[in-house]
Amino acid sequence: MKKLIFALILTPLAAFAEGETVAINPPVSATTEEGLAAWGRIYEVASHPRCSNCHVGADGYPMWSGPSYGKTRRHGMNINAGESRVGAETVPCATCHYARFEGANDAPHMAPQVAMDWMLPPAEAEWFGKSSVEICNQLRDPERNGGRDFRALASHLDHDLILHWAWTPGGGREPAPYSLQEHVNDVLVWGVSGYPCEGDTQ
Ligand code: HEC
Ligand code: HEC
Repeated sequence: MKKLIFALILTPLAAFAEGETVAINPPVSATTEEGLAAWGRIYEVASHPRCSNCHVGADGYPMWSGPSYGKTRRHGMNINAGESRVGAETVPCATCHYARFEGANDAPHMAPQVAMDWMLPPAEAEWFGKSSVEICNQLRDPERNGGRDFRALASHLDHDLILHWAWTPGGGREPAPYSLQEHVNDVLVWGVSGYPCEGDTQ
């Protein structure tokens, strides 16, 4: 009996550990300089193809770009996400981005797969081709960031499986820079320091 209870307690814990979760520990304080340095790294991540290929604007064209695609181009096969952002108006993203098995992202040039719906973010979260200052102002504006403060942004980053994919894309794709944990830490430092952006007038 004792053994059974032990097993019941340990099984969910083991599954949790395998899910590569991150720690969310905001610092007690952070200076504007530290915040700006953290922002610089956040921008390197946000502007990387593993993120910006999806974070496109109202025209709804996902991008193929980065080391594995050569020159930046629109998603092949005339794919458009439409207003639904999931391609409901034409060809749904899930037609190709749907597999749910271990190793589905190993082969090059396969449609990336995650165990949640593959779709574009809202058009207000447009990052593709935008400058550091533009994305910085967007990401601190609750009207354009899904109403999130830095803690909510950090926990969103952890809970979103697309992000776990962006750091372990497989198939020869270059992962987003730093690590998910380092990115979350930077978001926390940036938030605690007061969300500074380059060019702010103090
Ligand atoms: C497959 C497409 C896709 C990729 C790739 C992607 N995202 Fe997103 N992202 C989304 C969707 C969809 C949402 C909206 C989810 C929500 O609001 O619940 C979102 C929302 C966000 C938000 C919330 C704030 C906002 O502006 O709406 C952040 C922060 C974010 N993504 C960061 C990232 C980062 C960092 C990367 C790369 C490491 C990335 N995303 C890659 C689809 C993507
Ligand atoms: C007909 C199949 C198909 C459909 C439908 C489709 N995709 Fe893709 N997608 C692919 C393939 C294949 C690739 C990989 C191309 C390669 O690596 O050469 C890809 C790659 C991508 C990438 C690039 C990922 C990266 O950074 O490496 C994004 C972003 C993307 N798709 C978004 C979408 C969205 C959003 C939709 C729905 C609006 C969608 N796709 C619909 C087949 C499809």
